[in-house]
Amino acid sequence: MALVLLLTGLMLLLLRRAPGAGAQAVQDSKLEQPQDKVVVTAGQMLTLNCTTKTNSIPGPVKWLKGWGTGNETIYDQTGFFPRVTRAVNGSNTDLTIRIRDVRPEDAGTYYCVKFRKSLDGDELFLHGNGTVVSVRAKPTHLVVSGPGRREKPGQSVPFTCTARGFFPKDIDVKWLKDEAQISAQQPQITLGRTNSSYNMASTVTVTLQKDDVRSRLVCEVKHPVLTAPLRGTYQLGQALRVSPSIRLLPDPPSPVEVNKTVSFTCHVKGFYPGNVTVTWLENGTQMKVENISWPEEPPSGLFELRSQLEVQATEEKNGSVLTCRVVHDAQAPDDRKTTLRIVAPAREGLSDWSQSGVSVLSSPGLWLGILLEKGLLGGLLIFLFKRGRA
Ligand SMILES: *[C@@H]1O[C@H](CO)[C@@H](O)[C@H](O)[C@H]1NC(C)=O
Ligand SMILES: *[C@@H]1O[C@H](CO)[C@@H](O)[C@H](O)[C@H]1NC(C)=O
Ligand SMILES: *[C@@H]1O[C@H](CO)[C@@H](O)[C@H](O)[C@H]1NC(C)=O
Ligand SMILES: *[C@@H]1O[C@H](CO)[C@@H](O)[C@H](O)[C@H]1NC(C)=O
Ligand SMILES: *[C@@H]1O[C@H](CO)[C@@H](O)[C@H](O)[C@H]1NC(C)=O
Ligand SMILES: *[C@@H]1O[C@H](CO)[C@@H](O)[C@H](O)[C@H]1NC(C)=O
Ligand SMILES: *[C@@H]1O[C@H](CO)[C@@H](O)[C@H](O)[C@H]1NC(C)=O
Ligand SMILES: *[C@@H]1O[C@H](CO)[C@@H](O)[C@H](O)[C@H]1NC(C)=O
Ligand SMILES: *[C@@H]1O[C@H](CO)[C@@H](O)[C@H](O)[C@H]1NC(C)=O
Ligand SMILES: *[C@@H]1O[C@H](CO)[C@@H](O)[C@H](O)[C@H]1NC(C)=O
Repeated sequence: MALVLLLTGLMLLLLRRAPGAGAQAVQDSKLEQPQDKVVVTAGQMLTLNCTTKTNSIPGPVKWLKGWGTGNETIYDQTGFFPRVTRAVNGSNTDLTIRIRDVRPEDAGTYYCVKFRKSLDGDELFLHGNGTVVSVRAKPTHLVVSGPGRREKPGQSVPFTCTARGFFPKDIDVKWLKDEAQISAQQPQITLGRTNSSYNMASTVTVTLQKDDVRSRLVCEVKHPVLTAPLRGTYQLGQALRVSPSIRLLPDPPSPVEVNKTVSFTCHVKGFYPGNVTVTWLENGTQMKVENISWPEEPPSGLFELRSQLEVQATEEKNGSVLTCRVVHDAQAPDDRKTTLRIVAPAREGLSDWSQSGVSVLSSPGLWLGILLEKGLLGGLLIFLFKRGRA
C-alpha cells in the first residue's frame, strides 16, 4: 500500500516537472486566435480559429464564452455539445471549432483555452486573446396590434407594431394605410433579454373613419439582414364599430281600417360588424311574428338589413305601441317606436269592398262608372217608356 502511494507521488512529481524539462518551448507557447472579430448571420455556421505550435503539452482543450465569473463552456473534449465540432478531429495544434445554426444569443467573446495536468486537477495554462462574435439576425415575430375593443368612427386609436431579435440595431419602420404612407413616432428600440439582439416597438395613431371598415394598416420593416421588407397587416375593421342608422317605416304611419293587414319595415343600415339582432315589441312585450332578411354587405363594407312585421288590425290594437328593437354587437338596444291607429271602416255597407284591400271608394273611375250606368239605365227606361206610349 505504502509502495503504491510512494510510486504515485513520484509519478505526479515527474509529471509536474515535465513542463520544466522543455521550459523554453513552453514559455514560447501561445494560442493564436487570428480573428479579433467575426460577424456571422443567424442560422449559419461560425468558425472560430485557434492554433498553437506547441503540441506536446498534456491536458484538455476548452472553448469558453466570456471570461471570469459567468463564463460558459462552449466546447470541451468530454462533454456533449451537439452544435459544436472540431475542424480537425483530435488535433493538438489546430483547435479550431465550428458552431452550426448560430443564434443571436451566441454573440459574445470566445476564448480558446488550454489546460495542463496538475496535482489539484487541470489548471489553466494558455489562452487566446479572444474572438468577438456578433450575430446578424433579422427581425422576427412581427405583430401589429390594435385597441382591445372596438372604437367608434372619429376616435383616435393607437396601433403598435413590434418585432424582435434583430442585430444590428438599425431598423427602419414605415406605416401605410391603404398603401399610402402615414407618419408615426420614431420606433422605440430596446435590448433583448440576452443582450445580443434588439427589440422594436412603433406606434401610430389613426383617427378612424366610417369607411375604414375595408382599410388595411401595414407596418413595413426594413433591416440590413432582410432581403425583402417584412410586412405586418391589420384590418381596421377589427378596431371599428359603426352603429346602424334605423328607420321604422311607414313614417308617419297612416291609420288602418279594422280587419286589414298592415305592414311595418324596420330598415337597419350602415353598420359594422354585421352582428345585429332585430326584435319587435307590442306595448313592450316581444312579438312572435318576425320576417328578417339576412344582413347584406354592400361594397362599402357596411351592413344593411330589413325586418318586416305584418299586423292584423283589430280594435284592441288601437293605440298599441310597436317597437323595433335593434341590438348591434352586444351594445345597448336602440329602439324605434310607432303607434297603431285603427279606424272603423268608412261605411258599414261597403265592408266587403274594403276587405279586398283596395280603397275603391276613392276611385273616381268607379263613381263615373256608377253615374254612367245609372244614366244609361235611365235613358233606356225613358226610351222604353216613350216607345210604349208611341
Ligand atoms: C494578444 O494581445 C496582446 C496585447 O494586445 C499582444 O501583445 C499579443 O501578441 C496578442 N497575442 C496573440 C496570440 O495574438
Ligand atoms: C480557420 O481554420 C480553418 C480550418 O482549420 C481554415 O480552413 C481557415 O483558413 C482558418 N481561417 C483563418 C482566418 O485562420
Ligand atoms: C469560469 O467560471 C468558473 C466558475 O463557473 C470559474 O471557476 C473559472 O475560474 C472561470 N474561468 C475563467 C477562465 O474565468
Ligand atoms: C471525431 O472523433 C470522434 C471520436 O473520437 C468521432 O465520433 C467523430 O465522428 C469524429 N468527427 C469527425 C468530423 O471526424
Ligand atoms: C447587458 O449589457 C449591459 C451593458 O452592456 C450590462 O450592464 C448588463 O448586465 C447586460 N445584461 C445581461 C443580461 O447580460
Ligand atoms: C272583422 O272580421 C271579423 C271576423 O272575420 C268579423 O266578425 C267582423 O265583423 C269584421 N269587422 C269589420 C269591421 O269588418
Ligand atoms: C317576408 O317578407 C317577404 C317580402 O318582404 C315575403 O316575400 C315573405 O313571404 C315573408 N315571409 C314571411 C314568413 O312572412
Ligand atoms: C296597448 O296599449 C294601448 C294603450 O295603453 C291600448 O290601447 C292597447 O289596447 C294595448 N294593446 C294590446 C294589444 O293590449
Ligand atoms: C355576435 O355577437 C354575439 C354576442 O353578442 C357573439 O356571441 C357572436 O360570436 C358574435 N358573432 C360574430 C360573427 O361576431
Ligand atoms: C282608436 O282610438 C282613437 C282615439 O284614441 C279613436 O278616435 C278611434 O275611433 C279608435 N278606433 C276604433 C276603431 O275604435
